[in-house]
Amino acid sequence: MNTAAKTAAAVYPPRKEFAQTAHVDADRYAELYAASVADPEAFWREEGKRIDWIRPYETVKNTDFTLGQVSIRWFEDGTLNVCANCVDRHLETRGDRTAIIWEPDDPKDAPKHISYRELHGHVCRMANILEDMGVRKGDRVVIYLPMIPEAAYAMLACARIGAVHSVVFAGFSPDALGARINGCDAKVVITADYAPRGGKKTALKSNTDKALLHAKDSVKVLMVRRTGEQTSWVQGRDHDYNELALEADDVSGCVEMGAEDPLFILYTSGSTGQPKGVVHTSGGYIVYTAMTHEYVFDYHEGDVFWCTADVGWVTGHSYIVYGPLANGATTLMFEGVPTWPDAGRFWEVCARHKVNQFYSAPTAIRALIGQGTEWVEKHDLSSLKLLGTVGEPINPEAWNWYNEVVGKGHLPIVDTWWQTETGGHLLTPLPGATPLKPGSATKPFFGVQPVILDPHTGEEITTNPAEGVLCLKDSWPAQMRTVWGDHERFEKTYFSDYKGYYFSGDGCRRDADGDYWITGRVDDVINVSGHRMGTAEVESALVAHETVAEAAVVGYPHEIKGQGIYCYVTLMNGVEPTDELKAELQKWVRTEIGPIAKPDVIQWAPGLPKTRSGKIMRRILRKIAENDTGSLGDTSTLADPSVVDDLIANRAGRE
Ligand code: WTA
Repeated sequence: MNTAAKTAAAVYPPRKEFAQTAHVDADRYAELYAASVADPEAFWREEGKRIDWIRPYETVKNTDFTLGQVSIRWFEDGTLNVCANCVDRHLETRGDRTAIIWEPDDPKDAPKHISYRELHGHVCRMANILEDMGVRKGDRVVIYLPMIPEAAYAMLACARIGAVHSVVFAGFSPDALGARINGCDAKVVITADYAPRGGKKTALKSNTDKALLHAKDSVKVLMVRRTGEQTSWVQGRDHDYNELALEADDVSGCVEMGAEDPLFILYTSGSTGQPKGVVHTSGGYIVYTAMTHEYVFDYHEGDVFWCTADVGWVTGHSYIVYGPLANGATTLMFEGVPTWPDAGRFWEVCARHKVNQFYSAPTAIRALIGQGTEWVEKHDLSSLKLLGTVGEPINPEAWNWYNEVVGKGHLPIVDTWWQTETGGHLLTPLPGATPLKPGSATKPFFGVQPVILDPHTGEEITTNPAEGVLCLKDSWPAQMRTVWGDHERFEKTYFSDYKGYYFSGDGCRRDADGDYWITGRVDDVINVSGHRMGTAEVESALVAHETVAEAAVVGYPHEIKGQGIYCYVTLMNGVEPTDELKAELQKWVRTEIGPIAKPDVIQWAPGLPKTRSGKIMRRILRKIAENDTGSLGDTSTLADPSVVDDLIANRAGRE
């Protein structure tokens, strides 16, 4: 995707006027970065103070990446409450400031402005309702909501009472929801009647009912009325949030939490098996998300910050809810999509709410490029000070459009590389300090020590330019701590391939200036519209269909989505391969996992290329999907090389 970067890359140094008022300029970055890696203890001891602690920490860092004994602990003897840091501590000085601006799906409906004082009342009521439903410190609560303020109230209410939330993206199917409810043994599921999005709506309550068919009988439901329409109701199990909130007390105490007590679980796709529950804890996570939100977006008191992600993903956790609210910012929550009712929606919202920092995804930008520049130009974007991207490499064409059409050529663009596992940004420009290169996530954030390893020898490549796999040499406070209920899987996934390092799963290049360029996943994870998808998940959904004998799924370059989902399917003996069946399988996967997993291409495969030991040669399948069949490499080790000829001859057209 960033092949253009291999030729001479354009460089955009920070503008002087920006650097002058920025928190960090080039000199300060160099100085602070050097200090942060020379003495991480001292650096983080100081940074930890941006958070209010109940009992201050003495120990700062206690981390070990050694396979067999991986342990990551930050500020471990400190205690705090994350909700108090995001809400209560602002009441005195910023009580009347807007904490959340909510922009509904339909622009004809009125937005809401929720002040910090109001937020406090809502969160306390939700906390009291959850406690009345029996939720206690350490219990898990699944949140399956649209992008409405109640999603933030729910997350913060959990944090307030010490419950561990697990947000499930509202686009996931009942099966996916059920697996997550059972996976973390949730006590309560918070959902809504319906989720409006892009003029359509998803029946969340009915999805929840289906998901709960396979869960424990004791799981309770708290339902928020979003559209007010009729839903099914199970007496005793289902609770009406809107009714209970009328009665609930609007004050509640904050439970004292250890820095290493879990804050949330977020399920994410990996290269093997089913999604794993990434566990983040309290102290380090809130220190790091608050700090990156301030420095990376150059957030200043009073700014209106908009991250267009969904709270169902880590980006929404860290940069819609926790980071901005810890800093007392005004954060915008948007329920809709960029292209409805028209392609000007993002920019209309920016103009209406005078957004200062706008943080979005390359896939959204690519979808808007095709609609023409007039949709941007008709809105007043003069409030914008900074643009950001996350989720996948940004191709130079999209970067240039973002820069010229949206940024009018003078706004910094921060291309932030990070992961669900990292909790916050690891590689990113700082807008007043770092020269930008379209397509490069540039330099490490403070305290972050990226290394590029040779994938064959596992040795660090210390010279520039370098190319290999991206690992981290030491811990940072928002690093994930474990996989929920499976620490061994945590160690095996991230610490076993390259001993002594955290392995990101991404390939990476470092250029002569020491700037990092992510080249994409090196494992069987694909990135579809900035959403992570395990090919194994799609495969297991396909083989669950009665007509499918075997399936292999790979990614291929897709103009808008970054990567599309290409499936090779072997049918059961005697099943007729028809177009209707293709459509049915697409629909099947959509229902099994959710709309984001719908296959783009299905190719019938009478056989799959396998080694003699039965391992599917995905490298070959990827090449065929990419239509790059001139360089298939050695196929002589295949059990039956002729299957490759068939797959090439019958390569599917792309829909
Ligand atoms: C990819 C999203 C290039 C990468 C925060 C990573 C990126 C995966 C970038 C994590 C970026 C994220 N440039 N690639 N700026 N940001 N990625 O867990 O492959 O949903 O491993 O976290 O997205 O996706 P996740």
